Amino acid sequence: MASPSVHTAMSAAVASQVFEGSALLRLRVKELEEQHLAFRNSLICAFNQLLDLKDISTGVHSTRLAEWAIRVARKLNIPEDRIYQVEVAALLHDVGKIGVPDAILKKQGPLTSEERAAINRHPEYSWSILRLFPGLEEASLYALHHHENFDGTGYPAGLKGHDIPIVSRIVSVIDAYDAMVSNRCYRKGLSHGEAIHRLLESTETQFDAEVVRTFIPIAEQEAADVFAAAGTSTSAVL
Ligand SMILES: [Fe+2]
Repeated sequence: MASPSVHTAMSAAVASQVFEGSALLRLRVKELEEQHLAFRNSLICAFNQLLDLKDISTGVHSTRLAEWAIRVARKLNIPEDRIYQVEVAALLHDVGKIGVPDAILKKQGPLTSEERAAINRHPEYSWSILRLFPGLEEASLYALHHHENFDGTGYPAGLKGHDIPIVSRIVSVIDAYDAMVSNRCYRKGLSHGEAIHRLLESTETQFDAEVVRTFIPIAEQEAADVFAAAGTSTSAVL
């Protein structure tokens, strides 16, 4: 039988091996977590580029929306651990437009009811794509509801008021503002003042008034940059 001192030395050696083993394991888990996050971020960037290539949304547009969404979310006290989901929802809420035929998506002039129905399916397509990303289930729901209206007349679920996720309400406001001020090949973007006027006009019907009020100072602060990036004359600003 080993003496107590030998026994103590053996226990110390085993304890040291276990400690080293668990430290290595923790390091490996951390490495794998980092690899997983990097891979997920690469996929998000790849989808963003896909939208760019399909001419659905440009990199500048997406980045701007994501920055605004994060700033509005923080002002509305959305917890910091949900901000990543806010960013992804703002970046990729329209990813489902990939599933809408170009002939419909880029059609100029009035749409038939079937064509409108095809476009209106894009939030569900966005949801069905994003929910496949492990860890982005929350962002997929925000994308699903980004065309709901505050008065319940939106789609796909006809959700009303605060039943609409707050992040979807944020994306709805900033996306509408961005669409209004951006130039399209068939029309010139609206001035900042006119776009804000239209947002305010549609509070409680289409938009959440609190989100609009929170967004206005952010839009005003960056109006010059936005208009430069959107290609609208800065003389139209404010
Ligand atoms: Fe959309």
